[in-house]
Amino acid sequence: MFSFAVFISGNGSNLQAIINATNNGQIDGKICCVLSNKEEAFGLVRAKEANIPTIVIKHQNFETREKFENAILKSLKSFQIDLIVLAGFMRILSPVLIKPYLGKLMNIHPSLLPKYPGLNTHQKVIDNQDNQHGVTIHFVDETLDGGQICAQSIIKVESNDINILENKIHELEHELYPKVIQRFAEGELKLIKGKQ
Ligand code: GRF
Repeated sequence: MFSFAVFISGNGSNLQAIINATNNGQIDGKICCVLSNKEEAFGLVRAKEANIPTIVIKHQNFETREKFENAILKSLKSFQIDLIVLAGFMRILSPVLIKPYLGKLMNIHPSLLPKYPGLNTHQKVIDNQDNQHGVTIHFVDETLDGGQICAQSIIKVESNDINILENKIHELEHELYPKVIQRFAEGELKLIKGKQ
């Protein structure tokens, strides 16, 4: 059975959408574990309620990014992992984690990449008076939010209210991520040429 891990750092509303999709059969597979770098992440509560094993590895406990990621790799060893889904995991990854999972590691980003990599994307859309905004799901490589794009959803910007915009983007994310995970599970999505 297709089996995947979800990495989070916060609220986990995307995780919830993915849990729901595995429960209702939209995703033909199971979440083997949820990993967070923050023990207070609400997404861990969501995972526990869904009886999914949780792992907390605090990045502050490690001197370097590489040591942090080696601890993550070690913690994943006992699971069958066909894919790692980053869903609001707020750490930049190094080749230590990217290399062994190249082509099996995806992220969701709240902008129409390549526009607005990094943080504060909604504010940038407002400041630049863009009339379009959206979300991108992409394979992760060593570039920041620069890996091969798997899918995008677009909305028209109809309000300058950042909360309204953010909510709309979340709705798009919750719809798109399960679809993309299922496409990956079916073997329809592949990284063609990735940098490690
Ligand atoms: C999402 O907007 C995602 O695009 C970004 O972080 C946010 C996570 O939200 N990478 P949640 O924790 O899934 O609610």
